[in-house]
Amino acid sequence: MALPNAALTPPASEFLRDVLTGLACEPKTIAPKYFYDETGSALFDRICELPEYYPTRTERAILAAHAEKMATAIGPGVQVIEPGCGSCAKVRYLFDALDAPAGFVPVEISGEHMLHNLKPLRERYPGLPLHPLCADFTQPFALPEGCDATAPRLLFFPGSTLGNFTPEDARVLLTRLRHLVGDNGMLLLGVDLVKPVAVLEQAYNDRDGVTAAFNRNLLHRINNELGADFVVDRFRHRAVWNSRHQRIEMQLVAEQSQQVHVEQRTIRFAVGEPLITEYSYKYSDARVAALAAESGFKIRQRWTDNRDWFGIYLLDAC
Ligand code: AVJ
Repeated sequence: MALPNAALTPPASEFLRDVLTGLACEPKTIAPKYFYDETGSALFDRICELPEYYPTRTERAILAAHAEKMATAIGPGVQVIEPGCGSCAKVRYLFDALDAPAGFVPVEISGEHMLHNLKPLRERYPGLPLHPLCADFTQPFALPEGCDATAPRLLFFPGSTLGNFTPEDARVLLTRLRHLVGDNGMLLLGVDLVKPVAVLEQAYNDRDGVTAAFNRNLLHRINNELGADFVVDRFRHRAVWNSRHQRIEMQLVAEQSQQVHVEQRTIRFAVGEPLITEYSYKYSDARVAALAAESGFKIRQRWTDNRDWFGIYLLDAC
């Protein structure tokens, strides 16, 4: 299938620029959106199946149990937009329940991965107009041409993807998405909730080391695509809870001092120095309500699991 609206992957120059900027920061940082090349996307799909990684299965269970009620609350004829749709698996629960949806706009930085995963959707919902958009949703984007412009818009933002954003960035992102959906728009938001620290830390330190491989793949990617020379084995995966900021912090820790070359630059790592690769913020009802208020939304309804580990919130534009 052709992608008329964008290339399959964002230009390597942006990747290079972001990597160089991030490695010049203190602490060194690389944005988690760069995890998701082909290998990274496949590793993430494996993470979702891990016994320790409860978020995906918990959210799916909530969707499976309550999709009908969600669909009733959302109403008929909506245009569904999903930023960072990945494997596009969760949206099926919605489309199985929604009344006469106007279409689906998956927005995904990993274009090949998305196109591959749209096939089953096409087969399952033959009449549903699909408008895939290969884009970085952290940057402003417009809906592709051909979308029903009059249909009410539902932003589907599951998976606790929002957890990757600092409170400030989350506010900026949701404010922008609020403008995209318009005054009669809605947001169906899935976020991981605060819970005992041991459960959280285990979810990011699985026994099989899949999360570690996912984390380290970022360095392989930088080596392969940008010609850098990270000695990947000398970086240790680390994931710890930061209670002050209510987030899991994922890092790659240099086990020896080392120099890495990216383009013409030399970047020095001290022994034990971390490269921050991901923040995964955990939410509470109060935090969701505050964020909603800051970005032009209001919580209408909330669904959760019996342990209160994950929350799906329906918000209205206001
Ligand atoms: C896709 C951002 C929700 O933060 O739990 C999983 C990514 N990182 N294991 C998360 C992730 C390590 C995930 N999100």
